[in-house]
Amino acid sequence: MAGPSQDFWQQRFVSGQIPWDRGAAHPQLALWLDQGLIDPGLSLLVPGCGRGHELLALAQAGVEVLGLDYAPAAVALARAQLESHAGSASGRVEQADVLSWQPEMALDAVYEQTCLCALHPDHWRRYADQLHGWIKPGGRLFALLMQARRDSAGAGVVEGPPYHCDIQAVRALFPSDRWHWPAPPYSGHDHAQGWTELAVVLTRI
Ligand SMILES: C[S@@+](CC[C@H](N)C(=O)[O-])C[C@H]1O[C@@H](n2cnc3c(N)ncnc32)[C@H](O)[C@@H]1O
Repeated sequence: MAGPSQDFWQQRFVSGQIPWDRGAAHPQLALWLDQGLIDPGLSLLVPGCGRGHELLALAQAGVEVLGLDYAPAAVALARAQLESHAGSASGRVEQADVLSWQPEMALDAVYEQTCLCALHPDHWRRYADQLHGWIKPGGRLFALLMQARRDSAGAGVVEGPPYHCDIQAVRALFPSDRWHWPAPPYSGHDHAQGWTELAVVLTRI
């Protein structure tokens, strides 16, 4: 399979080489919670949840949150983080591949942060179909789209992770007959590694 393997990600967590990890929940999540866009009681999935900072923040806000990750070490870390706050948070974490996992029931929302950019673009079509299938009509996709364009892209080289989530490619994956897009511009969040993430909330049609 093109792109990083399960073992690649497992080794990242085992060795502690996780430069994407802020050590805390993404600041955009607090904004969406404050704006009331993510209500308590929603069923929400975090695919590629990593160490689970966002899972914890969502669970503490009363959201019925489920994290997915296929790296066993990430699953263990996310579960430990939730368990250490068991009095104030009650999320769940499953070990599964986002390209094949299916929910028992359609979800209200998905919080997509650095999972799309962790997948080789060969798998983006499949992942976008999964997201569309997981979310119920009228449900939302809270997306942080990684902007990590490299000079080599001009010569056609595909480099990552993180893979650059070019907005035109993302529009092709999430077309307007399947998703409602708010009008741009979208706010960006700079990352310490030099990347920027665009915050966009799509509504599934
Ligand atoms: C760049 S990390 C981001 C982790 C977390 N979202 C964050 O922002 O801190 C990408 C995560 O996606 C997971 N991942 C990558 N491909 C996956 C797949 N096919 N199925 C499930 N998890 C996957 C990795 O194990 C890793 O935890």
